Amino acid sequence: MTSNQWVEVGTLPDLTRRRRKLVTVGGERIGLFLVDGTVYALRDVCVHKQRSLTKGTILHGRVICPGHQWAFDPRTGRADGQDECQPTYEVRVEDGTVYVDPRPRTPAMEENR
Ligand code: FES
Repeated sequence: MTSNQWVEVGTLPDLTRRRRKLVTVGGERIGLFLVDGTVYALRDVCVHKQRSLTKGTILHGRVICPGHQWAFDPRTGRADGQDECQPTYEVRVEDGTVYVDPRPRTPAMEENR
């Protein structure tokens, strides 16, 4: 069984204004995104050319990178029409407080280590 290592990273009201927030947990830059009422966490540094996803936008349920407009599914980290996959993290929201487990749950991260 996996045991999560939850780290408090903010509150829901933090996200309702801009719908995205950059946090740093254990040296890892993680982007939080509020998409259709659900909070998702993706690595902030784009797998393509290292632009910051939190400087991008959210459109039609996708996180759009400001670099070359790749559209990432926030649930899986997969980019539409691309082979690359952005690492994602587990998120938990409790009483309006947002927690992230800073260990990436997608294999792409392993390749970048
Ligand atoms: S840097 Fe993100 S799409 Fe190119």
